[in-house]
Amino acid sequence: MMKENEEQLILCMASGFYPTNITVTWKKWTQKDPQYVEFSEGVFTNCTTKNEDGMFNVTSFLMLKPSLEDNMTIYQCVVWHKSLPTSQRLNFTLTMIGSQKSAYTLKYVFLCAGIILVIVLILSIFWKQVLHQTNTLFSILKAYSRNTQIDTRE
Ligand SMILES: *[C@@H]1O[C@H](CO)[C@@H](O)[C@H](O)[C@H]1NC(C)=O
Ligand SMILES: *[C@@H]1O[C@H](CO)[C@@H](O)[C@H](O)[C@H]1NC(C)=O
Ligand SMILES: *[C@@H]1O[C@H](CO)[C@@H](O)[C@H](O)[C@H]1NC(C)=O
Ligand SMILES: *[C@@H]1O[C@H](CO)[C@@H](O)[C@H](O)[C@H]1NC(C)=O
Repeated sequence: MMKENEEQLILCMASGFYPTNITVTWKKWTQKDPQYVEFSEGVFTNCTTKNEDGMFNVTSFLMLKPSLEDNMTIYQCVVWHKSLPTSQRLNFTLTMIGSQKSAYTLKYVFLCAGIILVIVLILSIFWKQVLHQTNTLFSILKAYSRNTQIDTRE
């Protein structure tokens, strides 16, 4: 399972074989092209190493950085060695879990926009009340000072 634009290294290892000659290749099966097609993009095969017992090992790496289109692609590591009656094929199916994440982000964007809108509305109502209250306060003060002036004259 992978997310969009996430990188993952897939390993295919063969160990304890003799003689040293071996072939490791990668194939993929897509819905668009429903057959196993060999590819080499993102593939790196290590040179064979020798064990103490004289047997050999090799590791092949596949660097995957899939897009949503690669959902449900079947990848296959094909190993051929003369000791095998037929080539060994190891498969895995790639499942993308990308779209859920973007749906979630979109939901959060709308939620945040809604919260900000509510805050702005509350603030504007509150601000209008504050302005109204200060205006009334000023008129009361004006009236009061007029009254005091009248008072002092009296
Ligand atoms: C191993 O492979 C190489 C080239 O791929 C070839 O020349 C050689 O004869 C092979 N050796 C054996 C033992 O099959
Ligand atoms: C081959 O792969 C193994 C396992 O990841 C690693 O330890 C080793 O360094 C690699 N050797 C070469 C020559 O790249
Ligand atoms: C991988 O798939 C191929 C073709 O469908 C099949 O022949 C092979 O047995 C599978 N390998 C494993 C390990 O299931
Ligand atoms: C990938 O395909 C599977 C099976 O069809 C589906 O359940 C999943 O939602 C798909 N993933 C994306 C990101 O479309």
